[in-house]
Amino acid sequence: MVTKKTLALIVDSQEPEIYKIRVAADFIKKGGLVAFPTETVYGLGADALNPNAISTLFTAKKRPFDNPPIVHVGDLEYVHKLAKEVPPKTIKLMKTFWPGPLTLIFNRSKIVPDITVSGLDTIAIRMPKHEVALALLRESKRPISAPSANLAGKPSPTTAKHVLDDLEGRIDAILDGGHTNIGVESTVLDMTVDPPQILRPGGTTYETLLTVLDTVELHPVAVAEKELLVEKARSPGVKHRHYAPDADVIVVEGKLAAIVSKVKKLAEFYMQRGSKVGILATDETTVGYRADVVKSLGSRGDLAVIAKNLFGLLRELDLEGVDVIVAEGVPNEGLGLAVMNRLRKASGYNIVKASGC
Ligand code: TXA
Ligand code: MG
Repeated sequence: MVTKKTLALIVDSQEPEIYKIRVAADFIKKGGLVAFPTETVYGLGADALNPNAISTLFTAKKRPFDNPPIVHVGDLEYVHKLAKEVPPKTIKLMKTFWPGPLTLIFNRSKIVPDITVSGLDTIAIRMPKHEVALALLRESKRPISAPSANLAGKPSPTTAKHVLDDLEGRIDAILDGGHTNIGVESTVLDMTVDPPQILRPGGTTYETLLTVLDTVELHPVAVAEKELLVEKARSPGVKHRHYAPDADVIVVEGKLAAIVSKVKKLAEFYMQRGSKVGILATDETTVGYRADVVKSLGSRGDLAVIAKNLFGLLRELDLEGVDVIVAEGVPNEGLGLAVMNRLRKASGYNIVKASGC
């Protein structure tokens, strides 16, 4: 791939400077690639209705062509253009949760190019809750396909630096709006089935969805403890490795006392074998550990902070050059469901169940 100069534009995250947004929108209109912040993670945007732009997007990210990105909209009018039908239940969800970290799967309309949805009959759409993303959508005057702005397989980027570390020279521009707020991606909710199914847990929790929907199911992949074979049409991204730092990751799950004792034993074991070991701990447990690097995700009492720090710390541990990361599990509830889904995937399902204590 030919290296290009990536233009970095620092923008105010609350009131983005319009002339900078217009420069970015011009790239999108001409079929270029622009990274931008959303409330979840940074996205890498391209014109959703321009097949060449989408092809460039897959190539820049080294993303397999069978894993479609999410289409972002700034106006509900586009949902009606992109979706074959817009069921009443989805209207209620959009009214309640948009803009916000909820992606809805619809049957797609004929105007959507095949490559935009990897040839599927369905399309994933969301309206992001971030002034920079919304301004870019407004100025571009079209829907924007935007997967997370990382190289495929790497942890998703929560800062502009993460994006540039992966994609500098491969994309036209980046709007740098600082650290993203939520830190894990949107919840992907399939509205083409009854009851609706969560395909990927994310920023809108299962518990919150139940305030609007009578029933919501968790697709087995959303809570998987091992690699699952599923039909591509339902969950296209599943078979690809995700969120993975270069180091090997082990996730330790169970009651807290048992987790701490197991993490200590594993760290000891790998250090004795000469490996450089990093521990991904929490505020409550950090002091008790001995390893080459110990980092805290935040307090166990605040899963929002843990979610916000997760991807950045996985990247930091890689920069420290650790060989093995031993990570504490957190409760599988609220945002913890998304955190555990990402940690388990990052580990390639290398999960240790701690018991006893
Ligand atoms: O928070 C987010 O969702 C971020 C920001 C940038 O908006 N975007 C993001 O996009 O995470 P991406 O492309 O990295 O993840 C999209 C997920 C993948 O798991 C993909 O397989 C799934 O959505 N997906 C896309 N289209 C789908 C479809 N038609 N049916 C089922 N799953 C779909
Ligand atoms: Mg992604």
